[in-house]
Amino acid sequence: MSTLALHIILSAVLSSLFVSTRCDNQSREDVALFIFGDSINDAGTNNYINTTANFRANFPPYGETFFRYPTGRFSDGRLMVDFIAEYANLPLIPPYLQMKNDEFKGGANFASAGAGALVDTYEGFVVDLKMQLKQLEQLAKKLRKEMGSEKAERIIKEGVYLISIGSNDYARPIFSNPALFQSISMEDYVGMVIGNITTVLKGIYEVGGKKFAMIGIGQLGCVPSMRPLTRNGACLGEANRIAQLHNVALTSILAKLETQLQGFEYSYFDFYITGSERIQYPSKYGFKEAETACCGSGPYRANSTCGGQRGVKEYSLCRHPEKYVFFDNGHPSEKANQQFAQLMWNGSLSVIRPCNLKALFKHEDA
Ligand SMILES: *[C@@H]1O[C@H](CO)[C@@H](O)[C@H](O)[C@H]1NC(C)=O
Ligand SMILES: *[C@@H]1O[C@H](CO)[C@@H](O)[C@H](O)[C@H]1NC(C)=O
Ligand SMILES: *[C@@H]1O[C@H](CO)[C@@H](O)[C@H](O)[C@H]1NC(C)=O
Ligand SMILES: *[C@@H]1O[C@H](CO)[C@@H](O)[C@H](O)[C@H]1NC(C)=O
Ligand SMILES: *[C@@H]1O[C@H](CO)[C@@H](O)[C@H](O)[C@H]1NC(C)=O
Repeated sequence: MSTLALHIILSAVLSSLFVSTRCDNQSREDVALFIFGDSINDAGTNNYINTTANFRANFPPYGETFFRYPTGRFSDGRLMVDFIAEYANLPLIPPYLQMKNDEFKGGANFASAGAGALVDTYEGFVVDLKMQLKQLEQLAKKLRKEMGSEKAERIIKEGVYLISIGSNDYARPIFSNPALFQSISMEDYVGMVIGNITTVLKGIYEVGGKKFAMIGIGQLGCVPSMRPLTRNGACLGEANRIAQLHNVALTSILAKLETQLQGFEYSYFDFYITGSERIQYPSKYGFKEAETACCGSGPYRANSTCGGQRGVKEYSLCRHPEKYVFFDNGHPSEKANQQFAQLMWNGSLSVIRPCNLKALFKHEDA
């Protein structure tokens, strides 16, 4: 075999190992994790703000599986970000609002259940994405003061910024103002959401962040809370369409920012594909049920009554949340979160691109 042929084969093998050649520079230090967004990522932020039980999960049975007490996470156990922190050898990342004067260890979580990219989304009940950016600015200032600007800047620059946002911007009008899409096209509405996300990504970059991990929107029309909106309990096509429009616009803006902003790197996680696979073929992934939630009431346990603290006391709870894709009417079980997190961490280009998180964190043991 010629050296050239060998070289071609070797480089093909190497680039498939490293996922993508632009992601393969290995220089690993302690990489912090900064978390933003909505209930997919909220590890207890909303316990510290003035809001209602609709936006909280700090009561049982939330948290029953892993923590054995309710932490504020919308799941029976850990979230994707908890697994990502583990894979990156970091401790559990605490909510920023809980940190107060604690020592900075591994990062901060700004995510707030119910938050959207639009300020109007559940305004007054959540920490919206712009406010989360403001809190990052406050934290950066505090770190510079406490550890000196050189070290603080390195932590900020090397850190990974993991964001899940947008579902609430779309779910809110679908539930409470369905006429909205007669006065504004879905495309224009998505453009507004993406525009606001872009502003915040640029804001994080201004603070010094370079590495972004974006979770796309999942198959929104197939979450249990949406099913009663269709006559036969099928997925709500309109919600799935808007989620896909969003994801296309998001990937294109990420590719654009990479060319515009020096040093900008990103991972985009295809939550739509990975979620829909599990919803369509639950048994292939070890689940028994993907339409009905583990916790809640009514058909599909679509009503937000899990825990009995949201105005209705009665609710049903399954015995084995690990057999369910959804723990409550809109949120994955710990088991599903673990599968998603593994795919984000070391999945292939079909689900996370152009780099997986392992590469984004620049681990030695790729
Ligand atoms: C990795 O990046 C560092 C600085 O960012 C650079 O000095 C080094 O040459 C790069 N290594 C490789 C193998 O590209
Ligand atoms: C919290 O919000 C409620 C209702 O909006 C309001 O009545 C109450 O005064 C607020 N409490 C604080 C401490 O801001
Ligand atoms: C952000 O959203 C607001 C509506 O909340 C909209 O008026 C504004 O144009 C959006 N910004 C961008 C840059 O798209
Ligand atoms: C679920 O919520 C709907 C809409 O609020 C309500 O009409 C229905 O009675 C609820 N079902 C149960 C079983 O609580
Ligand atoms: C991916 O990462 C997870 C978590 O660290 C690990 O359990 C799994 O074996 C890895 N898979 C591959 C193919 O490397």
